Amino acid sequence: MIVTIDGPAGAGKSSVAKKLASQLSFFFLDTGAMYRSVALAGLRRDWDFHDQATVGRSTQALKYQYQDAIVLLDGGDVSQEIRDPEVSRNIHHVADNPFVRDILVQWQRQWAVGKDLVTEGRDQGTVVFPNAECKIFLTATDAERARRRWLELKDAGQAFQLEQVLHDQTERDRRDRERKVGALRQASDAVEIISDGMSCEEVVAQLTQMVNAVRQSPAADGSKQRSGFDEQ
Ligand code: DC
Repeated sequence: MIVTIDGPAGAGKSSVAKKLASQLSFFFLDTGAMYRSVALAGLRRDWDFHDQATVGRSTQALKYQYQDAIVLLDGGDVSQEIRDPEVSRNIHHVADNPFVRDILVQWQRQWAVGKDLVTEGRDQGTVVFPNAECKIFLTATDAERARRRWLELKDAGQAFQLEQVLHDQTERDRRDRERKVGALRQASDAVEIISDGMSCEEVVAQLTQMVNAVRQSPAADGSKQRSGFDEQ
């Protein structure tokens, strides 16, 4: 069974998806980590990000491994480094690149074969797994997402003005929604959850109920997700 969680930055997708996967004893796939790893590889090797076809070929050649939310690039653990602001600033170069997206989408589908999976990103319910049995669009108001991010940064000892965080978030949302391929959008059959005023645990509890209801329904026989990927 595949559960997709899509939504904008700062909606709490990662924490929710990780906890939900653990609660259900499902695998967890953080697709943002993949785009981050490719951006990091490009920065390390000084790729010309404007040459999209060459970046695609270099992406194909990367030695990339993902296991239990640990990301290995060329055999080294880069799980922390991919969160650096420098990587975040450059990520659009790879997330906007259709060659890179094509490679990562194939990789995500292959990784999912034979697994019960909670996967989170921007395009999981629309492009990568259009036939997933359970689709969630997790969001929160702009002000709430910025406030959470601002608190996170503050806790990490990074002092930013809330206005700056909101400004950066608006820019990132715009890029994510206007991307020509794999843009952030809610799948027509996804359930929207607006998490303002809810704790992570409350969201996970609600989603666990939803997933269990789908699992118990007669239609949950696995045929939906395996029947092909035709929306890309
Ligand atoms: O979820 P995140 O913040 O780690 O994602 C990092 C970036 O990667 C984000 O700006 C959008 C992009 N991304 C994407 O284009 N498609 C995905 N499935 C996941 C992330």
